[in-house]
Amino acid sequence: MSDVEEREGGTSGAAPRPRRTGEGRLPGDPSPRAVIERIVRVDHAGEYGAQRIYEGQLAVLGGRPSAAVIRKMHAQERSHLETFERLIVERRVRPTLLQPLWHLAGFALGAGTALLGEKAAMACTVAVEEAIDEHYADQAARLGEDEAELRATVEAFRADELEHRDIGLEHGAEEAPGYRALSGAVKTGSRLAIWLSERI
Ligand SMILES: [Fe+2]
Ligand SMILES: [Fe+2]
Repeated sequence: MSDVEEREGGTSGAAPRPRRTGEGRLPGDPSPRAVIERIVRVDHAGEYGAQRIYEGQLAVLGGRPSAAVIRKMHAQERSHLETFERLIVERRVRPTLLQPLWHLAGFALGAGTALLGEKAAMACTVAVEEAIDEHYADQAARLGEDEAELRATVEAFRADELEHRDIGLEHGAEEAPGYRALSGAVKTGSRLAIWLSERI
């Protein structure tokens, strides 16, 4: 069976994993190298923003009952960030030019929602992590066997982010005043930040 036959005919149901990153791209789609650059750049930016969100939350809620669990999530974001700081160097990817913006916006988002209360802070976490879950799932689906290690990293971090979402839900996120509007705004902002950080 040729490669093409194996790809097109081999499976039914779920889409098969790409054998190579950037496989099946159309004219005008980014090259495999550009796909990797975007992935490393945006994930570095996202993990940077995530640790700033938790720093903002802790600045407001440092003495409150939820602080311990926020500190635990913050420590995980720090370790995610360290991995992408290493990958930025190893893969020779330019970091986003928007990092100074995410420095401020991440902290402001964390502190701003925390000022609305612990449940609003948790609602912010749930919304961000839901957006990141979609984002990491999409990346994992685009990475081929040639990038199995990066794909495993993305999948492992995705599992941590889903745990953060669940922690937020367990701590009353959905009981926050104006939950739906808050969640929608934070998700839209997160998706915009992702879109920008892939490109700029
Ligand atoms: Fe993270
Ligand atoms: Fe997270």
